[in-house]
Amino acid sequence: MAVKVNDRYLRGFVRDHELAFAAEAAETAHNLLIGNKGAGNDFTGWVNLPDIYDKDEFARIKKAADKIKSDSEILIVIGIGGSYLGAKAIIDALASPLYNSLDKKTPDIYFAGNSISPTYLSQIVSLVKDKDFSVNVISKSGTTTEPALAFRVFRKLLQEKYGDKANERIYATTDKSRGTLKSLADKNGWDSFVIADDVGGRFSVLTAVGLLPVAVAGLDIDALMKGAADALAEYKNPDALSNECVKYAILRNVLYRKGFKCEMLVAYENSFTMMNEWYKQLFGESEGKDGKGLFPVSGTFSTDLHSLGQFVQDGSKILFETAVVFDKPQTDFFLDDDPDNADGLNFLSGQNMSVVNRKAFEGTIIAHTEGGTPNIVLEVPTLDEYNLGYLIYFFERACAVSGYMLGVNPFDQPGVESYKKNMFALLGKPGYEDIKAELEKKIGG
Ligand code: PA5
Repeated sequence: MAVKVNDRYLRGFVRDHELAFAAEAAETAHNLLIGNKGAGNDFTGWVNLPDIYDKDEFARIKKAADKIKSDSEILIVIGIGGSYLGAKAIIDALASPLYNSLDKKTPDIYFAGNSISPTYLSQIVSLVKDKDFSVNVISKSGTTTEPALAFRVFRKLLQEKYGDKANERIYATTDKSRGTLKSLADKNGWDSFVIADDVGGRFSVLTAVGLLPVAVAGLDIDALMKGAADALAEYKNPDALSNECVKYAILRNVLYRKGFKCEMLVAYENSFTMMNEWYKQLFGESEGKDGKGLFPVSGTFSTDLHSLGQFVQDGSKILFETAVVFDKPQTDFFLDDDPDNADGLNFLSGQNMSVVNRKAFEGTIIAHTEGGTPNIVLEVPTLDEYNLGYLIYFFERACAVSGYMLGVNPFDQPGVESYKKNMFALLGKPGYEDIKAELEKKIGG
């Protein structure tokens, strides 16, 4: 069992009868998922993906990664939302948030098309000027504005630098048959990878969307998929209370019903910060609809104990924490003795820094629970490919069960469209004339 849900810090917050009630709802929700009978059941392709993924495409991903490693100093990964967060999260978690600055044999990887900031785009453009580079453009719909804009820029740069050979440096990850990106890929003969129709953006990290950039970073995608497959095997268990993944959904649902409307995912590793961002999209887009849902927030501790810690300890009682704790750090650091002890820190001499980090966690969780903030703890052996694959699948499945427990469709995202419609209208996109007139009246008035 690679993820253990520890509920001992919920004592005093959650009662047995509340758990029993939520367990029944969770069992129903889980059965909807297992039987593929819930809302949005045409988007559940991710559920069995770790078992049934396309092995030929997987081999092509590895081959493409090897080519990029051999002919590129930089890989530009273009995508937004689910077409960006997962790859960035895994690379940061397993390689390092400092990946690009480290001494390594694999290409630097920069992410573009995840905003419309002209400053950020210009800065990345300046990085590839004198370097050999390739582009992995990722968009399930193939029509999202942010990545499309960035891709236009980098495609031109590739063409200027490599002429006809530019097409050999473009890797498109998109729908199998629809969208502008797919048409362009077919027309220009780009190496392309498929995001299946029944796998939504935020559930797509274990497809080529995440796997190609992660493989380019030199990480072991076989172990990642093995972790996810073992999680799938474990979480098939229909008994709500002995299924750790369903248990997590139960606990967060009980806390939500008691008025804790925000879940703060925290970890004591800097490398987990982008995993927090991935989690926020997964749960925020899946649960936040129909006027319901836990608002997902996050913290990297102990860093954020020096900013948000005050609120968590002592502010409005609107949130609970879910702490992801690793039994063993990826790397430890031994603290030497200092004969002068000028900084007064010799009480820590002879310790590993992971012990100090562990004590920070223990001290914090006691302080926060005593301050009225409930804590769920997710215990994970360590941060490696296998355990991260396991944890990713744990969150995906818990998210789907949580959504069904709330009575929402966890697989749509109607709210994401509203801003796009207004932006297109204000920019004068053909077909949006009426909306534009309405919006201009509102802005003017
Ligand atoms: O979860 C989702 O479906 C969205 O947030 C998408 O990930 C995001 O909008 C990017 O979409 P696409 O991959 O179609 O460019």
